[in-house]
Amino acid sequence: MSIIISPSLLSANFARLEDELKAIDQAGAPWLHLDVMDGLFVPNISFGIPVIKAIRKVSDLFFDCHLMIAEPSRYLKDFADAGADLITVHEEASRDVRQTLADIKALGCKAGLSINPETPLSAVEPYLTEADLILLMSVHPGFGGQSFIDITFKIKELRRLMDEAGSKAILQVDGGITTDNAKAVVDAGAKCLVAGSAIFGKEDRKAALEGILAATGK
Ligand code: DX5
Ligand code: ZN
Repeated sequence: MSIIISPSLLSANFARLEDELKAIDQAGAPWLHLDVMDGLFVPNISFGIPVIKAIRKVSDLFFDCHLMIAEPSRYLKDFADAGADLITVHEEASRDVRQTLADIKALGCKAGLSINPETPLSAVEPYLTEADLILLMSVHPGFGGQSFIDITFKIKELRRLMDEAGSKAILQVDGGITTDNAKAVVDAGAKCLVAGSAIFGKEDRKAALEGILAATGK
C-alpha cells in the first residue's frame, strides 16, 4: 500500500472551505482529516457535526474524522450520518473501547483508535485486530502547528506489535509532520501521515502535499 497523506482541515482558511477542499482534491489527496475538539478532552474547540455535514455535500474525499471529545460513543451516529468515512476515537476518552469500535463499524464506518504521546502502546494493544486504523499522536492534541515529538521508537514498536498480531490496521501518525520528518516516520512503519500547517500553511497546497509525499521516498 502506498503512503496516504491526510491533510488536516484545522489549518485551512475556514472562510473558504469549499475552495480549500477543491485544492486538496486537485492536489491528489484521497483523504481529508477532520479534527473535532470539544473543549473538554482537549483545551480547544474546533468544529463539529454541522460543518462536516455541510462540506460532505461539496466533497467526495474520504472523511477521516479524528474525535478529540470526551465519551465519543454519545455522538457516533451523528458523525456517521454527517458523512464520516472513518471515525477515530481516543482510548483515553472512551469508557468501553471495544464496544465503541464495534458500534462505529455497525454504522458502516471504518473504526480508528488513537493515543496521546504519553499514553503507552499497551492501551491500544488489545484492539490491534479490531481497529481499522491506529493513530499515534506526535503532538499533544488540541492545536495545529505544534512541533513534532519524536515518537519514532513508539511507531516502530507498534509496527512490530501489529505485524505480530496479524493486524491489517493502518498506522497513522498525526502532529508536526513536515518534509523534514516524514521519511523517518514512514521508515518507522507509518502508512498514513496527517499534515495540517505543512499543507494549509503554504500558498501552494498541491506543491506542499507533493513535497511531503516525495520526502517519504515512497
Ligand atoms: C492536533 C490535531 C492534528 C493537527 C495537525 O490536535 O489532531 O490533526 O491538526 O496539525 P499540524 O500538522 O499543523 O501539526
Ligand atoms: Zn488530528
